[in-house]
Amino acid sequence: MEREVGTVICTSSGPSAFEFDFVVTNTSLSVPVRTGQFVEVSTEEGKLIAQVTEIMKTNRYFMHAEAVREYERGGKPLTTIFPVDKWEYIIAKAKPLAISINGQLERVTFPPSPGEKVRLASQDTLANFLGLDIENGIELGTVRYHNIPARLNLTRLLQKHVAILAISGAGKSYLASVLTEELLLRSPAKGRVAVVIVDVHGEYVSLAEKVESSGYVDFSDRVSVFKTSFFQIAVPQISERMFGEFQPQISPIQIRELGRVLKNLKRKMYETGIPYSLQDVIREIEQDEKMNIRTKEALLGWLYDLEETGLFGPVESPNLDKIVKPGHAAIIDLSEIISLRKKQILVSYVARRLFDLRKQEKIPPFVLILEEAHQFCPEARRELAISKSIIETIAREGRKFFASLCLISQRPVKLSTTVLSQCNTHIILRITNPYDLKHIGESSEGIDRTVLDVITTLNVGEALIVGEAVNFPLFIKIRKRRSKEPKHALNLEDAAKKFEKQYT
Ligand SMILES: Nc1ncnc2c1ncn2[C@@H]1O[C@H](COP(=O)(O)OP(=O)(O)O)[C@@H](O)[C@H]1O
Ligand SMILES: [Mg+2]
Repeated sequence: MEREVGTVICTSSGPSAFEFDFVVTNTSLSVPVRTGQFVEVSTEEGKLIAQVTEIMKTNRYFMHAEAVREYERGGKPLTTIFPVDKWEYIIAKAKPLAISINGQLERVTFPPSPGEKVRLASQDTLANFLGLDIENGIELGTVRYHNIPARLNLTRLLQKHVAILAISGAGKSYLASVLTEELLLRSPAKGRVAVVIVDVHGEYVSLAEKVESSGYVDFSDRVSVFKTSFFQIAVPQISERMFGEFQPQISPIQIRELGRVLKNLKRKMYETGIPYSLQDVIREIEQDEKMNIRTKEALLGWLYDLEETGLFGPVESPNLDKIVKPGHAAIIDLSEIISLRKKQILVSYVARRLFDLRKQEKIPPFVLILEEAHQFCPEARRELAISKSIIETIAREGRKFFASLCLISQRPVKLSTTVLSQCNTHIILRITNPYDLKHIGESSEGIDRTVLDVITTLNVGEALIVGEAVNFPLFIKIRKRRSKEPKHALNLEDAAKKFEKQYT
């Protein structure tokens, strides 16, 4: 049994099915109950679960302003004259949320009785009410104000995609690392997925480092990092439509002609067994006699431009079908690339290949973690993003094939609404920008005004989870990482000192 905290009392309006008050009777703790905590009360029908919405203190000795003033004017505080501390009461208001009738959750239609004991909600009650998976879930932290692990069911959390949204510095990447750790720590018996991280800033590479110091888990045997300097997009894997995505101004006629050329090259490849490169495509077009000269020039221009990115080659490196493994994380480190367009080309290729491989069941169910998601699938039409269409496709169709997205963004307003609405679970950390808040209020399920107000006050390491993964908006305290954190970047003072030391 959980700690008893109080007793239901009568007020002019309650107890009712919408609200009840209780007086705190257990004063063994200095803070016996908190706003936001879950409590339970027995009723005729079953166990009623409620949330504390307001806490008030009262003391009859301080009810009359003139009396307090008169006594204290004499130089003697009230506390020295009367046993005032014995008369302080705490009264809490609670909002009934659900009633558990033989384990089934029902809407509350009947009030609890005055005099009933109020207890803090037990782990079983909360797990049932919130929809936690205590046995096999992904442990992101603890339920706020309760010492209960916030373990979320893998399917409910990931199958229909998740978005992590917050201002920068709120702990998004930290949380994504915790999520990754949980996925890597799962046993095969519980069902393991593969993790692919598109690491825009090189923040996750430390997961792959060997750890000798105690107190940390060494994930190095389960994590591989792929630097983009070794990355190669396999040209034979790219259809004319994908070329059209990489070069959005390419015309339908040019695409059709390119398709014809690619078909020839594919035929030759099957005959000789030698894969073709972008130069081969360029040469084939140059030698093509059927092609209109203007189409030819335009196509060559687009292809030379792609060749200059240095991303293309005859074979894929690394082999995406080899590096995506259950219980493993593949980190694609984009930190060396400055051009956004190049990053988008890579993300587009990787996402499309992973989705195709998954559809053919050549790779295990996976979750693709994408940082700076608003750069890869922006809402604005004028911000043309090469990777937008494939990410939207996975967002819409991924669940059928167990291809999940975990999108991370500090500018939810700028993220494609199609994608955001397909992310059925939102994990929200601190957000202060009013536009982002409004957007989240509109696009996340189950968020009302009071919840929105709390989002602005969240501290680093605190999060709100709403949507598919939980039955009710859930505030959690994110757990500590088991892996070593990346070494912190220099602060401004140290960077300035370092510069002067080097150059003076
Ligand atoms: N749950 C947490 N517990 C402890 N420290 C945290 C937690 N979340 C974030 N931090 C710290 O806060 C800082 C910013 O976190 P980070 O994940 O990089 O933020 P974001 O990705 O949102 O910009 C980091 O130094 C990190 O160590
Ligand atoms: Mg980050």
